[in-house]
Amino acid sequence: MKKSRHFPELLIQLETVTDLNLALEKLQHDDVVGIPTETVYGLGAAINSEKALKKIFAIKERPFFDPLIVHVSSKQMAQKLTPSWSPMLDFLSEHFWPGPLTLVVPKTEMVSSLITSGLETVGIRMPRNSLTLTLIERLGVPIAAPSANKFGRTSPTTAAHVQSEFKNENILVLDDGPCEVGLESTVLKVDRIGQDYVLAILRAGQIKKTDLEKALRSRPFQYQFVEAVSQKDSPGHLKHHYMPQIPLVLVKNRAYTSQKILDKTRQMLHQLPDEIEGVKIRKPLHIQTTKEFVLPDQSTLAARSLYSELRKMAEEPVDFLFFRILDYHSREEWQAVMDRLTKAASLVLD
Ligand code: TXA
Ligand code: MG
Repeated sequence: MKKSRHFPELLIQLETVTDLNLALEKLQHDDVVGIPTETVYGLGAAINSEKALKKIFAIKERPFFDPLIVHVSSKQMAQKLTPSWSPMLDFLSEHFWPGPLTLVVPKTEMVSSLITSGLETVGIRMPRNSLTLTLIERLGVPIAAPSANKFGRTSPTTAAHVQSEFKNENILVLDDGPCEVGLESTVLKVDRIGQDYVLAILRAGQIKKTDLEKALRSRPFQYQFVEAVSQKDSPGHLKHHYMPQIPLVLVKNRAYTSQKILDKTRQMLHQLPDEIEGVKIRKPLHIQTTKEFVLPDQSTLAARSLYSELRKMAEEPVDFLFFRILDYHSREEWQAVMDRLTKAASLVLD
């Protein structure tokens, strides 16, 4: 963003307003826009524009079996997307929205099967970002948005990441600086059976199971968490995702020195296919160099810097990166970060 020496705040504001107007115009005219959220940047389309929705899948090179999350600016907007707004949904949305919690619920006809990949459920969330909330409110229509990266690749946490991800497409990105959370939202499926609820976390995020339990503690709801995640419940939940441009190796064995990691990886990398689940992996011909990928030891800070660091390090002139798994990484607060690292990895050394 440009700044004036004399009136910096005023200029930032005017520029943002101009971008907001441009973004609104694009969304109203069947186009897509890069939008900031507190988790990661999204690539958004109005849910009533089939053309723009198709463009998301096309430029992301995303398979149609992977459903999109629908972003709303109010509870009222969310209520229109599901035929069964229950007391549980009312509570969770009041408690956690705007914020990084996506609620998977039965869908109404307002939500096309293109968005849900043919499922009868839709994932809904209200992001904690005032620019995007204003945009949705002014559009008057929810915005469907996946993370703004090519399918299977590292998610973007700055506007510059989105620009570099879609170099060849002319995408307008609303810039609101780096994302505060840095990892995608927690995806929670909420099923109602009579007066009982069945909750299933389909994707780990900053809002953890214990946070949900704590919030629900003083409430009269009858509920249980189920662990089992079938592919049908969570399409798009592939084993590989978020992959950097060079291979990432997770190291569980504490005794391994850098040299041992280099040797082991050299031995094992040739066993890897060039492509896993449609995601291409750049396989170096000769493995000579590596660098350790290190994250802060506090989980919220690690989450915030994970994707941008992974992108930065993938530019380094080395053949692969390695990350050491330590004892504290098994704590619940690390679950989301470790989930992403595991999916981003090409190899695990036990
Ligand atoms: O934080 C986020 O959630 C970001 C920002 C942009 O809001 N969005 C995001 O979208 O991560 P995406 O497309 O990268 O991930 C969406 C995932 C799908 O892969 C799927 O696992 C789950 O959300 N999902 C969406 N709708 C679903 C549904 N109806 N049933 C089950 N899972 C669903
Ligand atoms: Mg994504």
